[in-house]
Amino acid sequence: MSEKIKNVIAIDGPAASGKSTIAQLVAEKMKAYYISTGNMYRAIAYKILENNIKAESAEEETFEKVLSNIKLDFKKDSDDNLIMILNGKPLGQEIRKPEVANIVSYVAKSPAVRKWLLDKQRSLTHLGLIVIEGRDIGTVVFPDAKFKFFLTASPTVRAKRRLKQDGENASDATVETVSKAIAQRDKIDSNRKIAPLKQADDAVLVDSSNMNKNEVVEYIVSKINT
Ligand code: CDP
Repeated sequence: MSEKIKNVIAIDGPAASGKSTIAQLVAEKMKAYYISTGNMYRAIAYKILENNIKAESAEEETFEKVLSNIKLDFKKDSDDNLIMILNGKPLGQEIRKPEVANIVSYVAKSPAVRKWLLDKQRSLTHLGLIVIEGRDIGTVVFPDAKFKFFLTASPTVRAKRRLKQDGENASDATVETVSKAIAQRDKIDSNRKIAPLKQADDAVLVDSSNMNKNEVVEYIVSKINT
């Protein structure tokens, strides 16, 4: 058996399952760096949108061309949090807009995009202890991570949680429309050929439908510390 990587805490799960909130709190408790790989895919999707490219039907060469004009770096801020820098500017709320969410899963299907990000994601272990969240962290990015969690919740709970997040929903969004958008994204993420959304065999499943965030964080931290 291969040696487990002890400084990686991987948290995967479907859209709006609470991964980012939970992963940030776990990182705080464990004094680890928090990394959202979803934000990396969103940053590229944002650039695709900016270039007026139709992500659904874009060719690989188009993705490659956009990637060649992107610089995605990581910097520590004064509080020692990791921030992503997209072409010289810190990533902001623009990547959380529904327009970005609507196309990001098409961008994330591209082999060129995934390869480009995989190398960057793997290189982040030099930071020390990291809590890294996404869809394929436990299966593809860090299959040897010692700590793996798969966080989920029922579709309705997820839609309600997403609706509460300011700036991430259309002004006329309802539980039904949000639920539909999430289901569509999960379908594309789960069915793609490369690195689909999937629970790793050795990941701990956490269904947070009936748990509050502190309960989820306590549970995950207790599993890490056992
Ligand atoms: O926060 P939310 O649950 O809406 O999603 P996210 O974590 O920001 O991820 C946005 C999208 O990026 C996902 O729907 C996937 O299409 C893609 N993604 C991926 O393919 N692989 C990852 N490791 C992380 C995100």
